[in-house]
Amino acid sequence: MLVHTIEEVRKQVKEWKKQGLTVGLVPTMGALHAGHKSLIDKSIAKCDKTVVSVFVNPIQFCPGEDLDKYPRTLEADEKLCTDSGVDIVFAPSPKEMYGEGTIMSNDFLTYVIPPFFYTNKLCGKSRVGHFDGVCTVVNKLFNIVQPDFAFFGEKDRQQLIILKKMVHDLNIPVEIIPCPIVREESGLALSSRNKYLSENGKKEALVLSKILNNIKTCYNKGIKDVKALTETAYSFINDNHSLEYLEFRDKDNLEEKEIADGNTIVFIALRVENVRLIDNIEL
Ligand code: PAF
Repeated sequence: MLVHTIEEVRKQVKEWKKQGLTVGLVPTMGALHAGHKSLIDKSIAKCDKTVVSVFVNPIQFCPGEDLDKYPRTLEADEKLCTDSGVDIVFAPSPKEMYGEGTIMSNDFLTYVIPPFFYTNKLCGKSRVGHFDGVCTVVNKLFNIVQPDFAFFGEKDRQQLIILKKMVHDLNIPVEIIPCPIVREESGLALSSRNKYLSENGKKEALVLSKILNNIKTCYNKGIKDVKALTETAYSFINDNHSLEYLEFRDKDNLEEKEIADGNTIVFIALRVENVRLIDNIEL
């Protein structure tokens, strides 16, 4: 069932709760692919009812980013959801989410601001305010849908860690279920932004998973020094790649590592054909 208003979702969820049913939420920005499908399938397997939200959230895009050209494919998204057994596809307009006039600066809207320590690094360093927008919209979605479980992909690992922190710090009664990265056979992590890449760009984009896999192999062979592990990446990088960051951080609190261990995630962001791609691997 495709639903556009907060009122309609609330009404339906209230009915389900009355019947004692559990509700899973899969928050998305649409342009659904096999990565999203894996979250949806997990929710359907775990919960009595599943809501998928499809909302290109304007407040998590920074000036100059791809808000206008972000792929919007609601018809196909709805079909994927219906075929998968989703109960509600919630696709609100920006006006429905943020009100008349949609004045969305934080002078006019109550924001949920995650801690600076978590947002001043990795993607948050170049995407200033991005995670404020993410936490604000996810908090709103939690309030609207009141899910028992919410499903997020590990591809956006910094987002996942920040959302877990938000749920913990604000005592939000939802359990976050992390879901593994889904990759093409080539190793490329699925992302809605892969649509911006040419065929050649997709080949060049394999550099992210190649770097990460090689680091993991070196780590498994006994190299633990982060400087040495970082240096192994440079032979993969050529003029078609613009590296934004390659960092080793703690998987729970994002603290920087000098010596890699079993709690380490290696994070990478790199541009190919000016498309910003991210990936990560757990050591
Ligand atoms: O990961 C995403 O697609 C978005 O950041 C999310 C969680 C749906 C919030 O808009």
